Amino acid sequence: MAKMEVKTSLLDDMIGVGDMVLLEPLNEDSFINNLKKRFDHNEVYTYIGSVVISINPYRSLPIYTPEKVEEYRNRNFYELSPHIFALSDEAYRSLRDQDKDQCILITGESGAGKTEASKLVMSYVAAVCGKGAEVNQVKEQLLQSNPVLEAFGNAKTVRNDNSSRFGKYMDIEFDFKGDPLGGVISNYLLEKSRVVKQPRGERNFHIFYQILSGASEDFLCELKLERDFSRYNYLGLDSAKVNGVDDAANFRTVRNAMQIVGFMDHETQSVFEVVAAVLKLGNIEFKPESRVNGLDESKIKDKNELKEICELTGIDQSVLERAFSFRTVEAKQEKVSTTLNVAQAYYARDALAKNLYSRLFSWLVTRINESIKAQTKVRKKVMGVLDIYGFEIFEDNSFEQFIINYCNEKLQQIFIELTLKEEQEEYIREGIEWTHIEYFNNAIICDLIENNQTGILAMLDEECLRPGTVTDDTFLEKLNQVCATHQHFESRMSKCSRFLNDTTLPHSCFRIQHYAGKVMYQVEGFVDKNNDLLYRDLSQAMWKASHTLIKALFPEGNPAKINLKRPPTAGSQFKASVATLMKNLQTKNPNYIRCIKPNDKKAAHIFNDALVCHQIRYLGLLENVRVRRAGYAFRQAYEPCLERYKMLCKQTWPHWRGPARAGVEVLFNELEIPEEEFSFGRSKIFIRNPRTLFKLEDLRKQRLEDLATLIEKIYRGWKCRTRFLLMKKSQIVIASWYRRYAQQKKYQKIKSSAIVVQSYIRGWKARKLLRELKHQKRCNEAATIIAAYWHGTQVRREYRKFFRANAGRKIYEFTLQRLMQKYFLEMKNKMPSLSPIDKNWPVRPYLFLDSTHKELKRIFHLWRCKKYRDQFTDQQKLIYEEKLEASELFKDKKALYPASVGQPFQGAYLEISKNPKYKKLKDAVDEKIIIAEVVNKINRANGKATSRIFLLTKNNVLLADQKSGNIKSEVPLGDVTKVSMSSQNDGFFAVHLKEGSGAASKGDFLLSSDHLIEMATKLYRTTLSQTKQKLNIEISDEFLVQFRQDKVCVKFIQGSQKNGNIPTCKRKNNRLLEVAVP
Ligand SMILES: Nc1ncnc2c1ncn2[C@@H]1O[C@H](COP(=O)(O)OP(=O)(O)OP(=O)(O)O)[C@@H](O)[C@H]1O
Ligand SMILES: [Mg+2]
Repeated sequence: MAKMEVKTSLLDDMIGVGDMVLLEPLNEDSFINNLKKRFDHNEVYTYIGSVVISINPYRSLPIYTPEKVEEYRNRNFYELSPHIFALSDEAYRSLRDQDKDQCILITGESGAGKTEASKLVMSYVAAVCGKGAEVNQVKEQLLQSNPVLEAFGNAKTVRNDNSSRFGKYMDIEFDFKGDPLGGVISNYLLEKSRVVKQPRGERNFHIFYQILSGASEDFLCELKLERDFSRYNYLGLDSAKVNGVDDAANFRTVRNAMQIVGFMDHETQSVFEVVAAVLKLGNIEFKPESRVNGLDESKIKDKNELKEICELTGIDQSVLERAFSFRTVEAKQEKVSTTLNVAQAYYARDALAKNLYSRLFSWLVTRINESIKAQTKVRKKVMGVLDIYGFEIFEDNSFEQFIINYCNEKLQQIFIELTLKEEQEEYIREGIEWTHIEYFNNAIICDLIENNQTGILAMLDEECLRPGTVTDDTFLEKLNQVCATHQHFESRMSKCSRFLNDTTLPHSCFRIQHYAGKVMYQVEGFVDKNNDLLYRDLSQAMWKASHTLIKALFPEGNPAKINLKRPPTAGSQFKASVATLMKNLQTKNPNYIRCIKPNDKKAAHIFNDALVCHQIRYLGLLENVRVRRAGYAFRQAYEPCLERYKMLCKQTWPHWRGPARAGVEVLFNELEIPEEEFSFGRSKIFIRNPRTLFKLEDLRKQRLEDLATLIEKIYRGWKCRTRFLLMKKSQIVIASWYRRYAQQKKYQKIKSSAIVVQSYIRGWKARKLLRELKHQKRCNEAATIIAAYWHGTQVRREYRKFFRANAGRKIYEFTLQRLMQKYFLEMKNKMPSLSPIDKNWPVRPYLFLDSTHKELKRIFHLWRCKKYRDQFTDQQKLIYEEKLEASELFKDKKALYPASVGQPFQGAYLEISKNPKYKKLKDAVDEKIIIAEVVNKINRANGKATSRIFLLTKNNVLLADQKSGNIKSEVPLGDVTKVSMSSQNDGFFAVHLKEGSGAASKGDFLLSSDHLIEMATKLYRTTLSQTKQKLNIEISDEFLVQFRQDKVCVKFIQGSQKNGNIPTCKRKNNRLLEVAVP
């Protein structure tokens, strides 16, 4: 994904001011307050123009991540908040793109973070420069040289747990593409006195502790060492362990780094052997011994240690022992040997240890350089990183501080020179008038120290070389003579007694007013340290070693190359190397990192104002700002300036079409900025006062808010409009789809209707056609039939003469006759019996004989019935007549009838004539008796039954008492009007009498008989024959009878089971008589 270009500026979200040049008002307090404010907000970097001030945070901040590297990569210096990466990027890019060699000067006091800063610069450059297997190896070697040099050259001091005890300048070399090729390291003045003695609370160089903690038992044994620190005199005991430092782990890191850098295994081994020898040298002790000639002599106390050292280094023990006891002075081909006393022996031992170690260190640097040096001879671009000890002011300042401060004085000078030069060059480049800038030039102090005739260093050398007794005091005296009048030199003994009464200045001291403050130096040790003497016997002993590294470290010990000239003094050596360094730096484009230590406690979050103030003073930072601000406080190329402020003017917003410079001119005119406040350079605008810039910033901020509102407004409008357009488009789409759908539906409806209409019409048409066709067909058929008949007739008429007339009919009749004949003959054989009740009859053979067959059956049945009847006598005929009569009267009307069919009608059930009891009755009746029977007469009043004899004669009906035979009632047949009975299975019947007749006075009779059917039939027949009138026989379940005056209803109720199967009769009331029939 392409990274979005966001134009930002250092001025965005600034805490305090990111660039001290913009500080208003500018004074020490505001300077410190600004630093403090930024420090409190974790902003440890602040600019003074292009100089980076770095305050040691004493804790790891998340601002060195790969993401941060990416953020700062290829961005302009003032685009992001101040950072060491911005400076590194700027330096690397101008090296790569503009072909300018760069140097990065890192200064500050011990513990201010110089070494860390140098490593950050290196790691940033390594991260952003080219990649590839070879390039990566070079990078790795360059980076890994740091742990090696730190192990041998750094130590824990009271100020810094990892204090660099040497100055270091490293040139990193690049090819034309900006890919690293290699590097060269220069080292300055290792603090070798530390090898033999450390101040309280400090340690020797890290490597000693690392070997003892990290080496394996075997390796220690090889080196003839013991793990216990306290065994060694050179290791200060009070702070052998450092909090948060793992010596053993660091030892592994160092060995690993040495391997990466390119040390061979035997080289590494030799290096550690030398370190072990130095450590063991410290354990050699001397005791005084008086000799015969009265001189004091020293003797080694315990030779065991000496023996082991000699084994380690391959030196003849006697040679070394002698070197510790005698000193040979050669003068004019004469060798004079003097014995050493104990103090001299110790001095010699320590001098040997110091020399051995410092030479080893220099050898290491050379060896590393060999590894990391560029392999090609092509032209190289160089980036130098200088991590050198900063200005030092202690209570007791000695030769080392003097040298160090001299170095810083030189650096300050080069800084001033280069800054001013750069400023001036820029003004010229930009075509701006150069205004004179007031600043303090420290060249005068440099001169005080380094002047070849009158300089302090020259004087010191002179003293050291002078024959006769030379002491530190004679040196001071000389200083007093020569430098007394110098403005920056102060001494009590000086002839010009300006400081005669200054009690703060001891007699044994001199004071120099450095650019960064006054420093008082103790003169004691100056001469000795400058001489840096190692007795020749010792260097020769060393040269005799079979250990190749040690031998190489002491080339002057070779007797063949004996050189009677004194070696150069430490001071002159240093002066020369500083001079070379300065020359080197002057050819390069400088970049400054000024490190500041916020507190003395190595603690995070603490900002000690006084301490910082002190550092600001001696680093000359305020001076720095003033120099920077001397002309114009702020400058910026036209393009970014226009880009940043173009929204402040209508003509330049949103786009300026013309050249950027013209745009900025228009902008500044529009904003009515006073003319003396700015100047137009060729490519940059120069702003004199920070106030103007801040005013611009304020206006911009305000305008940005308005613009944000505007953008928001436009965005909202755009959003709404987009939404509206989208909705409109959607609506059209929906509408079109709906219309399509609706039209489709409508079309389908019309289509189906059309089809229906069409189908009806087609149907109608088809039917019409069909009708016509049918009609036509029928016409055709009719015509055909008529024609056929006609033809038939014609043909028959034609052919009649060929057939006999009526032959068909005759055949038909004959056939019929034969069939009939056959039928009747068969019938004759199949005739059923003559019994009238035989139902058999043969099956009909032909369908056409159906009616004939039935008729035959009927005739046959009638015939056989006639035959049967003809057999009857008269008597039998009468009986059947009566039965027939009964059938006609009662069949299907009275339930009692079927039971009577099988009973023969006897008539006289009572033998009246024979029974004497009824003689009287017999006598009273002279006519023929048709019926004589006992019946029950129902009492009219209560419905109870009484037995009576019922007699029917030709003319009368009689009722007589059964016991006595007395006639109770006699009714002529003509008076009987009607007989009523029920339709049920009972034998009750009522005999209705004619009203007003004699017999009717008591009312109708209600009787009951077992032979009701017979009696009723006979009564009917008799009445008919006598009166020629049909007796009315009423069959009904409810009928009225006349009892005297009352008409009583006789009602038959079926279903009563009261008296078993006998019907009972009961008078209910005047009007009702109930007969219960089972
Ligand atoms: N940028 C940083 N972030 C975190 N810690 C830091 C940073 N710079 C320095 N320190 C801490 O401060 C300690 C001292 O820093 P450093 O060794 O760089 O000081 P120096 O200026 O080189 O001192 P000397 O002059 O004694 O060598 C480091 O060991 C580290 O703990
Ligand atoms: Mg350091």
